[in-house]
This record gives sequence, structure tokens and C-alpha cells, in this order.
Amino acid sequence: MTIILKISKDNPEKILVKQAAVIIKEGGLVAFPTETVYGLGADALNPKAVAKIFEAKGRPADNPLIAHIADKKDVYRLAKEVPKEAELLMKEFWPGPLTIILKKSNLVPDIVTAGLDTVAIRMPSHKVALALIKEAKTPIAAPSANLSGKPSPTDAGHVIEDMKGRVDVIIDSGKTDIGVESTVIDMTVKPPLVLRPGGLPKEELEEFLKNIGKEEKSDKPKAPGMKYRHYAPNADVIVVEGNKEKVMKKTKELIEEYKLKGKKVGVMAAIKEHGYEADVVKFIGSTEKEVAKKLFRALRDFDKEDIHVIIAEGIEEKGIGEAVMNRLRKAAGYNVVEVR
Ligand code: TXA
Ligand code: MG
Repeated sequence: MTIILKISKDNPEKILVKQAAVIIKEGGLVAFPTETVYGLGADALNPKAVAKIFEAKGRPADNPLIAHIADKKDVYRLAKEVPKEAELLMKEFWPGPLTIILKKSNLVPDIVTAGLDTVAIRMPSHKVALALIKEAKTPIAAPSANLSGKPSPTDAGHVIEDMKGRVDVIIDSGKTDIGVESTVIDMTVKPPLVLRPGGLPKEELEEFLKNIGKEEKSDKPKAPGMKYRHYAPNADVIVVEGNKEKVMKKTKELIEEYKLKGKKVGVMAAIKEHGYEADVVKFIGSTEKEVAKKLFRALRDFDKEDIHVIIAEGIEEKGIGEAVMNRLRKAAGYNVVEVR
């Protein structure tokens, strides 16, 4: 049985937070909001509890989890070495959408890190997340609270769709603010490496780290999670990216092509004045931030409308746009049409 607790985003009700924290303490699973997406949490220091996360999500055992903390001091318990540059990032960007990879301490169970000698740590800024971690008095290991492979949940309704009956508690604090997951940076290598673009734009990191490496495309990404089919709705997704006029022309052609094949076509538009004649057209915003916030919701909504093919317009890869395009291309299984 899953209990659903409505908790205020701005003034978390202490008594309800306590109720959820007790479940964490007892080794149960609690889905909770963060400023990026909802997470599926368990006591990070309890291997049996953490094992339940993998089961509930259907997550491959070689994909490590992020340990969420509410007090920067906990970094020194979970990590063996904390380089100066990592401390600088913690000071600038925590609490917030940045996950830092460090050498793990012996306190962190192997199941959390999938056997790696590094650990991913993040201090979220969402009040409910912070209150829950504080009240549980333990770091909380949490991946995004979706079934493995599905778009990450940006609203409690999405968590309920995927996790009802699989977890003990789902906290409902409404929509999340950012809409894509945290940026993951590996601080155990020189130069530091961004393993996953996310809620914190690279441009902001670059103000504090002069030299940031970018991962080479390879078969074995350093963030194990990046290799799996991901963020995928049931519908097929095609991304059209490039020059604005050409994108609109190509999108129109694709709509006609798929309609002729008898497919129900959806368009995810980033251009307002589109004039598309598809079965469903969703305009998801004109700024990178707006699109980030609405992206995963839109993918889920197309499925509810039984769309067969989603044609998604690419956006500029600046700011959080880099994370948006990373997620979109993955959702499309790299089915990308470039019109430059
Ligand atoms: O915003 C977020 O990061 C959300 C919220 C809930 O905090 N969490 C999230 O977790 O997106 P998850 O598990 O869906 O994604 C974590 C990513 C995965 O790609 C995983 O492989 C990578 O971080 N990761 C975790 N620990 C790692 C480690 N020690 N080394 C390299 N990559 C790691
Ligand atoms: Mg995830």
C-alpha cells in the first residue's frame, strides 16, 4: 500500500515530514520532490533499503545512485577526499541542481555506488527534500522516481502513475521548478568532467572552473546511467533541429508523411507561430528554461493521447538548453533530423 502525503512546498508541515522520515528510518521507500525532478528515496546507509529502490524502478544494478544531503558537513562523511575545487562548487551552487562525484568513504554501501569507488552527492534546494533528509537524520539515496526508461517525474501525478503500489510513501508537493535532472560533475579527475548536462548550466560552472572537460563519446560512459535508453515515451520520437525556417518546413513535411501512413502525429513545438496541422500540437515554451520545465510532462501527455509519433523541435543548446537537447535526443533514441 502506498500512502500519499500532500506537503506544502513553501511551508512543509512538520508532522507530515516526520511521518515520511520514519518510513525512511525503518528502511522503507519515500518518493519526494526536489527542485529538479521527484526522487525515489531510501536510507543511503541501509543496503537493504537501497536494494528496494532498484527493484521498484526496475533499475539495472550497475547504475549508481545519488546520495542527497541537507548539511554540507555530510560530504566529509561520505567522501574520502574533497578537493578544494569541489568545496568551491559546494559553496557556490549548493543547495541546488549540481551533483558532485567524489572518492567514496567506507561508510557508503557498495550498492549505492554500484560497486564504484566514487560517490555522487547532491544537496537539493527544495524545502521538502531538505526537511525530509534532516528529519530522517541520514543521507537519502535517490534516483529519479520514474520507472526505469520513462521520462523523469516533474509532478506527483507522474510518480503516482509509475510508483503507486511499489513504494511506501509518495509526497505530493506539486510541480517541480527546473524540470530536468541535476548536472553531474566528476571532481575526481583533472580537469573535472561534466558527465551529464543538467539543471545547472555549464556556463555557470565555467565562471568558477576554468578548465572543464567534456566526455568523449564512447561505449562506456562514466555515468553508467547515460548509456541506457531513457526518457522514452511509448510513442516514437523524432527530433528536428537546426535553422528555424528549415525546422518548420521539415516538421510540416514529416507531419504529412506520417499522417499519410495513418499515424497519429504529435508535435512538440518551440516556435509559437507554427501553423502545424498535426493531431496534437503542444507549444512548450519560447525560452530554454520554460522548455526544460515542461519537457518531461509533455512527453508523458502525448502518451495519454495515444500519439504514435512525436516530432520535437530542437532548441538552442545554451544555458539549460544543453540539458534539454541531451534528454530529447535520448528520448528519440538519437533519431535526429538536422536541417542547417
Ligand atoms: O536531479 C537529479 O539528479 C535527480 C534528483 C532526484 O536528485 N536524480 C537523478 O538521479 O536524476 P538518477 O539516478 O536518475 O541519475 C543519476 C545519474 C545517473 O546517470 C548515474 O549513472 C550517475 O548519476 N551517477 C551516480 N553515481 C555515479 C558515480 N559514482 N559515478 C558516475 N556517475 C554516477
Ligand atoms: Mg533517472
